[in-house]
Formats: sequence, C-alpha cells, structure tokens
Amino acid sequence: MDWPERFNDCSNNRLEDSEIAAIMRVAAAEEALSLAAGEPFAALYPVEHLRESFMRALSSDLPIWGYSNTRAGIPSLRKWIEEWMRSDGLLAEWVTSDNIFITNGSQEGLSLLSECFLDPGDAVLVESPSYPEAFGVFRKFGVECLSVPLLPDGPDVDAMEAILAKHKVKFFYTIPTFQNPTGFSTSDEKKRRILDIAKKHDFLILEDDPYRNLTFEGSPGGTYLHAAGDDERVIYLGSFSKIIAPGLRCGWVISPAPVTEKLIKLRVMGTLCLPELLQNAIMDFVSGIDLPKHLEALSDTYRGHRDALILALREHACPEGLEITTPGGGFFLWGRVPWIRDMSEFAYFAIRNGKVAIMPGDIFFPENGQGIDTIRLSFSKVIPAMAEEGAKRLGEALRKFRIVQEEKKSE
Ligand SMILES: Cc1ncc(COP(=O)(O)O)c(C=O)c1O
Repeated sequence: MDWPERFNDCSNNRLEDSEIAAIMRVAAAEEALSLAAGEPFAALYPVEHLRESFMRALSSDLPIWGYSNTRAGIPSLRKWIEEWMRSDGLLAEWVTSDNIFITNGSQEGLSLLSECFLDPGDAVLVESPSYPEAFGVFRKFGVECLSVPLLPDGPDVDAMEAILAKHKVKFFYTIPTFQNPTGFSTSDEKKRRILDIAKKHDFLILEDDPYRNLTFEGSPGGTYLHAAGDDERVIYLGSFSKIIAPGLRCGWVISPAPVTEKLIKLRVMGTLCLPELLQNAIMDFVSGIDLPKHLEALSDTYRGHRDALILALREHACPEGLEITTPGGGFFLWGRVPWIRDMSEFAYFAIRNGKVAIMPGDIFFPENGQGIDTIRLSFSKVIPAMAEEGAKRLGEALRKFRIVQEEKKSE
C-alpha cells in the first residue's frame, strides 16, 4: 500500500515526532537516572482521596453512564473553578462559569483553540524557548512560530515589537508562571506592556498556566486574564495535571462566549463529550479536600527537591561548566554549559555513558540551531536522596564528554 499517496498534506508533512518522548524512551531503555521528566512526583498523587472520590462518583445517582449533555463540562466543576480562581484574584469581571470549558488536559485546549483560530500560512508568536508540544500543535495547522526571546522577567518586548513591525500574528502563546522549560515568570509590569502591544497590533494572548500553584517563594504574580480587564483578548488554559495527577487528563479553557461556543461545536465533532464519571470524581475531590493545604504540601516537597538538586549540582556538575538558574516554583531548572556545541548529542551520550538523562535545551527553541548549549533539568521527581547521585552522574558525563570532544578536535 502506498500510504503517503493516501495521507493528506498534514499527515505527510506537518506531524512532528516528539523529541521529548524520544529522549524519554531511550532513557527508560537504558535505565538512566532521570533529571529529564517534566512530570509530577508520583508519591504526591493523592491516590487514597482520589480512590474515595471515584468510589463516591461511581456509587452516586449522577448520570455518569450516558452521553453527557453538558458539552462544556459539568456545571458544578465549572462553577468550582470559577469560584476558586476568583477568590485568588485571577479572573476578569466578565468571566462566569459559562466561559469555562473543561478539556482533556490543557494539551487538548491548545489543540481546540488552534482549530478555532489558525489557518495555513498564519503566524503566531511564541516564547523562545517554550513548550515544544505546543509548537507541534500550531505547526500542524500550517502555521509559522515566530520566536520572542524569553528573558528572566518575561518576553523581550523590543524583539516582539520588531517582529510585529513585519508580521501580522493571530496570537501570542505564553507560559507566564514558572515557565516550561526555563522556570522564568513574566513580571506583572511586562504583562501590562504586552497587553498594550497586543491591543495595538490586535492579536490574542493564549495564557497557558499549569505551574502557577507550585510557588516556592513570594507570589507567582497575577494573570494576563485579570490584567486585561474588559479587553476580552486573553484566553486562559488551566490544568489539574500538575496539582492532582496528569492521568486524570483534565484541564480547562476560559474564553469569551463566542470562543466557548466554537469549542462546544468542536467538542461534539471531536469526542462528543468528556466522561462525567471523571468530572464528578474530580469535583468530589476538589470540594472535599483542604486545597490550600494540599497545594502547600506540594510546594514544600518540590521546594525541597529543587534545593537538594541545586546544592548537589553546584558541588558535582557546576565545576564541569554547568551554569544554572534558581526558579521560584514549578518543575524546572534552566541552564547552560557554554563549552557544549550540541546539547542533544550530549543528552544521548549522558544516557548511554553516564546513565543520567537530561533534556537538551535546543528542542525547546522554535528554530533549529538555537540554544545548542542550553539544558533543562527537572527536579520534580528527584527526591533529595537521588539528587546527589544524579548530579554526580551528570558531572561525570560532562567530564567524559569534554574528553571525547577534545579528542575529536585533535584528530
Ligand atoms: C506548558 C505546558 N502546557 C501544557 C502541558 C500539558 O498539560 P496537560 O497534562 O494539562 O495536557 C504541559 C505539560 O507538561 C506543559 O508543560
């Protein structure tokens, strides 16, 4: 069978392999100690509580067995999200639970919003570096991702203006809080400047915010959604993946009514509806636990992981040239090894020769050849007892890689 003949243009030309998944596969096969996985620490999944919530949802009289006729998601969960986010001061006045649409994780939100807004030949702005699984979604629609360099206090607004002088863009995709991969957060002042730029050049802002509740120090700052006020140009993506469990596959999109209406149509055409069992169990869980306490416990644990890994890296890997930044929350440390010319090559070398997995930073840049000396290290799953061993292996892998590079040079 000549499959390429049968596939459409998108299948043939626009579906990308996930480089993150490829590295994780090799790391697992080699049983490498992982400083690479951007996942929650499994011991923090509130399994017992979830089990009870699922049991209650299962034995209730709620209509969990039929097709759900609440295409945007069950009203109680949408209302709960509205009240929770409002009490944290994150919403604009115009948001009600009618503007909240439940998704199969924020990844589905990105996909559905792309389906709403993008046509082949369009352009979008993305932070550089940023979450590559979002680039893949945008590019699937035949769209160009234009890079706005990300600085420690948020996107480089001068670079953004320079791009906008030449290009019309549909939206700016941003991860403003403890960003993946850098851990950087956009200052509130920058958010206001970017909102002004968005107004001037008339584009939307997609605010992807899954790490906000994992704050280690200080405040994570406000949302674009709140700062924009009446200007309905911000679409917000939230997720339960990092604060409950990603296996629940549950997130939400907050958008103005015309967008929510399109999402509802896309829901019907895509999957008809989401399981009510799942949504009712999540509703039972979030309304039954002491959420601030739960979030504080997560943040305390992740802060401990961050501190232990940084300490160990300073001792064992920084002497080999690793430079790292300290994030105020989230899952990631961002860094550089200035003498490395191809971090992807080093990543595979480190897995095979040092039994340690890292994420090469270059895969987080929308353009090839950028960030070749950058590295993402995840502390989320690295318990303090593993941090020392992980950092030692990384230091050792760097030392060996440098020797190999020097030998190559002198050949
Ligand atoms: C920035 C960002 N957005 C979206 C996602 C996907 O999250 P979800 O599990 O809610 O689909 C991730 C997952 O790592 C992420 O880092």
